Amino acid sequence: MPHPPTDPPPARPVDPGAPQRLETTAITAGRRANQGSLSTPLWATTAYEQASLDEAGDKATTPRVKDFYSRYGNPTVAAFEDAVAELEGAGGAQAFASGMGAITSTILALCSSGDHLVAANQLYTSTGGLLAGACPRFGIDVSFVDQTDVDAVAAAVIPGRTRVIFVETPANPVLQLADLEALSAIPGPLKVVDSTFAGPLLQRPLELGFDLVIHSATKSLAGHNDATLGVVAGPEDLLQWIWGFHTIVGAVASPFDALNALRGIRTLGVRVHHACGSAQRLAELLEDHPSVLRVNHPGLESHPQRELAKRQMAHGGSNLSFEVEGGVEAGRRFVEALRLCRLAPSLGGPETLVTHPASTTAAGMPPDERDAIGISPGLIRMSVGLEHPEDVSADVFQALAATRT
Ligand SMILES: Cc1ncc(COP(=O)(O)O)c(C=O)c1O
Repeated sequence: MPHPPTDPPPARPVDPGAPQRLETTAITAGRRANQGSLSTPLWATTAYEQASLDEAGDKATTPRVKDFYSRYGNPTVAAFEDAVAELEGAGGAQAFASGMGAITSTILALCSSGDHLVAANQLYTSTGGLLAGACPRFGIDVSFVDQTDVDAVAAAVIPGRTRVIFVETPANPVLQLADLEALSAIPGPLKVVDSTFAGPLLQRPLELGFDLVIHSATKSLAGHNDATLGVVAGPEDLLQWIWGFHTIVGAVASPFDALNALRGIRTLGVRVHHACGSAQRLAELLEDHPSVLRVNHPGLESHPQRELAKRQMAHGGSNLSFEVEGGVEAGRRFVEALRLCRLAPSLGGPETLVTHPASTTAAGMPPDERDAIGISPGLIRMSVGLEHPEDVSADVFQALAATRT
């Protein structure tokens, strides 16, 4: 019986000229410390025994150390971080306990009292809560602007005071886009994007000039609805700063969830391609349905920013939203009539999931504010999963029929 190897095997020579696509990087990335094991070992430990006080002293003062104390870093979490960094083409990545852990730690690490931040007026609800609620309490002023209007974003920047421009593209739930290349040319602030709805295969924010890219890895990166995780990728100097803040806040990624996410990343290519194809087809079919007033999907010719989508995204993505004729009641009847698609507040997993924002995440918003950002009473958000596309569309169409009865 051979013993498991104790040293990493010599690196396999890689032909530097060989093309490697991102689907392949999803398979090869984050294996540095695997010691020959095909899957990443789970390091379920809180701390590492130190050989000497000198070594303990060194590690206690080393940013992003992986083998000292698991709130500072953990080898299984580090493998997930390496994989995301490779996928994003980033200097590094830092994992967090959730997407909100990543967003909150990044914003609060980068901004101090007296600083100013320019943010999109269409953001995931909890991100909006952080920026509209918590930031002002800490003396960080936030201007909310229409992220589709690059001139408006540039005009909102206060030279010398604006630390960060924060956008989300495609934005939850009406799939509005931000032009990353144009925004990155605005001088001064750091540019940070929540790219959760696209993921690294569809959109390349760092290559377009953004400083940091954030994902709720809870979604398509982990991809199986079994891990709550966030990640930010970018240059090492910014990550060290953010890491320092995250160790204080304690928004620390669990090694179990990092392991699940790594397993999810291995199949990212096939999952994303299947789900995107199904979503595109469903969006096109829905556009022709008499009970549907509007469909939001960046892959549709009718999307108001279709030209930008073609330039910036490899595909329209696996999320769409659409407005059912008949307002709140029709939206509710649609959701209640579904037999295959499930009502659940997440996205990017194997199951097709729906939400009705007017009854749930946006229920507390005044109707005029909701309307202003496109959350109409009959709006349904849908994350298309990995079922057979025809089974998903059959379920959606039978549920649409129920809205008319
Ligand atoms: C676009 C976007 N960003 C961030 C988050 C927050 O992620 P998490 O739930 O992992 O904190 C979500 C959650 O739905 C989201 O949709």
